[in-house]
Amino acid sequence: KQQSVSKPRDHLYKILVIGDLGTGKTSIIKRYVHKFFTQNYRATIGVDFALKVINWDDNTLIRLQLWDIAGQERYGNMTRVYYKEAVGAFIVFDVTRKNTFDSVNNWKSDLDSKVQLPDGSNIPCVLLANKCDQPKEGIANVPAKMEEYCKEKGFTAWFETSAKDDINIDEAAKALVQTILNND
Ligand code: GTP
Ligand code: MG
Repeated sequence: KQQSVSKPRDHLYKILVIGDLGTGKTSIIKRYVHKFFTQNYRATIGVDFALKVINWDDNTLIRLQLWDIAGQERYGNMTRVYYKEAVGAFIVFDVTRKNTFDSVNNWKSDLDSKVQLPDGSNIPCVLLANKCDQPKEGIANVPAKMEEYCKEKGFTAWFETSAKDDINIDEAAKALVQTILNND
């Protein structure tokens, strides 16, 4: 692709945020986009949307269209519709409940079976170990195991995050966007 140095580049990326009920998907998005957190839990119904605009560098503007998909959709047939044309994803689990980590595999398989990049490869996916401000259960306590798991399952990267204390959310988004840009 040829592009003059001065011409601003403008990207719109559809990003999915998936994972079990109550893992903190909506809270992560609220923190990231609106710089806001609440302890009150209201389950997402279907899908919600948010837009994050990033001034990536002097001539790159990125718009992330975040699809906040209800954990309840786990066994639904709607995910195929929601996943369409996404170019990146976050899978979120809750470090205080290890059953939410056990579901990560299923979310990743569901994702990879229903959406691919135009060249047929899997879309980049970053794993978020959320609520890291709380005591952890299971594998979330062992970074080396997390690392190995992510390599084996084809995750781009993983981050411990806290929507409550604003830990690593910007970093995780940067890592995902960087991978998407490299693919573009
Ligand atoms: P569904 O929409 O049902 O799929 O849930 P969700 O994944 O969107 O979870 P949500 O963001 O609504 O958060 C669920 C609960 O966890 C809420 O009470 C949040 O306040 C709480 N929560 C989310 N993130 C964090 C975090 O980083 N730390 C702590 N301590 N609590 C969190
Ligand atoms: Mg939600």
